[in-house]
Amino acid sequence: RGKRPAGAPDKKLARPVTKVGVVGAGLMASQLALLFAKNLKVPVVMTDIDQERVDKGVGYVHAEVDKLLGKGRISSDAANRTKALVTGSVSKEAFADADFVIEAVFEEMSVKKQVFAEVEAVVSPECILATNTSSLSVTEMAADLEHPERVVGFHFFNPVAVMPLLEIVRAPKTDDAVLATAFVLAKQLKKTAVLVKDAAAFVVNRILGRMFGEITKVFDEGTDAATADNALRSMGLPMTPFNLLALVGLPVGQHVQESLHAAFGDRFHVSENSQKLIDAGIKSLWQQDSDGKPYVP
Ligand code: CAA
Repeated sequence: RGKRPAGAPDKKLARPVTKVGVVGAGLMASQLALLFAKNLKVPVVMTDIDQERVDKGVGYVHAEVDKLLGKGRISSDAANRTKALVTGSVSKEAFADADFVIEAVFEEMSVKKQVFAEVEAVVSPECILATNTSSLSVTEMAADLEHPERVVGFHFFNPVAVMPLLEIVRAPKTDDAVLATAFVLAKQLKKTAVLVKDAAAFVVNRILGRMFGEITKVFDEGTDAATADNALRSMGLPMTPFNLLALVGLPVGQHVQESLHAAFGDRFHVSENSQKLIDAGIKSLWQQDSDGKPYVP
């Protein structure tokens, strides 16, 4: 029998999840839709602001399932079933019978709060609202809801299919049934769940934030990005800092850094050159390596 993760309530308190809603159909949201459909084997509906985005998200899931099929990691029955489970809609009404809705929209508190208010208006009072935020306050996100006890942080890492960790965030009002459901879901999703406090950027991004802060500071001080990045290549990291930043997306990284700076001050450096990095694209900066050698990740 598995040991109960630290801080997890009794799993008997967990509620069944028979339909999942994902708010957003971007890269993170699509990876989540795939993960839930494949492991939970329940219908998953994704929403976004227009049909084009929705179609792109559903298309991503289908393409990833086809890749798994091509590698022999999934049977053709399972592939067809997983694809059929994932649908999209431009209307949040599609969440009406969902038990668990996770948002993975733009990292902006006002946007997240609005999304939760809209979802709360269509779902049952027991439906759990989860946020995949990287750094924003889960407490604040729940504050204006009729049922703030239904909100929990459910923070995944990129690439979702391969990174085992899941940070589960308990806000002061999150109730035990919601938390118990989150832990049971984590297990079904085959993730290693840790309970973390609702503090800026939680645990992992807070630590990564120190690394990104320092490497962007080195860049600000005049060392080119490729030299700084390559210097860390042999340190045993699975990815160099700029490579990781490219994977996560520089704007997301920048939001995390700003949240950390707002919470903890100058310990977390916000680069004056971040916009330059965003505009130029990290990879093209690598090409500016002083020896003119192309950067090969
Ligand atoms: N989607 C799906 N699968 C992927 C993938 C992706 N984007 N990228 C890699 N994979 C799979 C590959 O297909 C491969 O699977 P198979 O073995 O089945 O073929 C497996 O992962 C290993 O990939 P590779 O052999 O190509 O490469 P690798 O050994 O270098 O591993 C990695 C890739 C697992 C991503 C590794 O480089 C790594 O661990 N990087 C660090 C990632 C990390 O730290 N992520 C956290 C970012 S912070 C964050 O996300 C939080 C936030 O809030 C911003």
